Amino acid sequence: MTNDTGPGGGTFALEIENLNIHAHTTGKTLVDGVSLALRRGEILALVGESGCGKTMTVSAVMGLLPPGVHKASGNIRILGENTAEWSSEQYRNIRNERVSIVMQNPMSAFDPVLTIFSHFSETMVSHGYDGKKSRSTAMEALREMGFGEPSVILDLYPFQMSGGMLQRVMLAIALLSHPPVIIADEATTDLDLVSQKRILILLKDYSKKNDCALLLITHDFGVAASLAQKIILMKEGKIVESGEVKDFFDNPKSDYARNLLFSHRALYTERFRRIKEVIEA
Ligand SMILES: Nc1ncnc2c1ncn2[C@@H]1O[C@H](COP(=O)(O)OP(=O)(O)O)[C@@H](O)[C@H]1O
Ligand SMILES: [Mg+2]
Repeated sequence: MTNDTGPGGGTFALEIENLNIHAHTTGKTLVDGVSLALRRGEILALVGESGCGKTMTVSAVMGLLPPGVHKASGNIRILGENTAEWSSEQYRNIRNERVSIVMQNPMSAFDPVLTIFSHFSETMVSHGYDGKKSRSTAMEALREMGFGEPSVILDLYPFQMSGGMLQRVMLAIALLSHPPVIIADEATTDLDLVSQKRILILLKDYSKKNDCALLLITHDFGVAASLAQKIILMKEGKIVESGEVKDFFDNPKSDYARNLLFSHRALYTERFRRIKEVIEA
């Protein structure tokens, strides 16, 4: 169903319907019947242990499945349009304009011999920005991501910055075109707690201000509990549980979720408290 007649109305920003992803190299089903729907302004946490198929799911959304892996069936709609109809050329244009992804390990995404401004330029050129305005546009994007002196940052090289700063630069670049759908795939996993929190707050505020749909992939229940309204738990390629965050934590339905929550309870309630404290400050 594409059109949503419930409160809020309109089309879902991101909709996945019965997605199946196969690896022809190993003959394995990596994603098995996954469906989800996300409106603008909503935050959905996608959780599950390493290898359960979270990254494959969002790689399919981005049109970026790795070699040897293919979408066997299912529909993916972004702003109501079925992505199966897009050519790779169209997909390239749609990435960043309609949907952007930020991943973990920011250092590997940067070219060590290029300044931060050069990284912005590359993206801007591919999006047809006005060359004369590009420096001021980049500065504005950095300011939105909490940089007080963006002109200084633009002339730095990646090695001169911390992981947390680079991740914020990545976000600034990814959000240049103000895409209505943002995917954060373990975007804060490699960072220290302070940088993690800072980025999560930025993402949350940004998506609220710009009415974005945010798909937040995390293995951290504290992050899911404090930021998201909805949650989906995956295991071995399948969805085992989905619903409102509050129901999930208060009253998990599956044994799998119950056991996971039980073993992580001390950890996530403490992290939940600390993250919430900062976010609500
Ligand atoms: N290129 C590939 N070819 C075949 N299988 C892969 C490939 N990349 C990852 N996988 C497998 O796909 C499964 C899902 O991986 P992934 O989506 O990255 O998990 P997650 O992001 O939840 O940790 C894993 O079992 C992984 O081993
Ligand atoms: Mg992953």
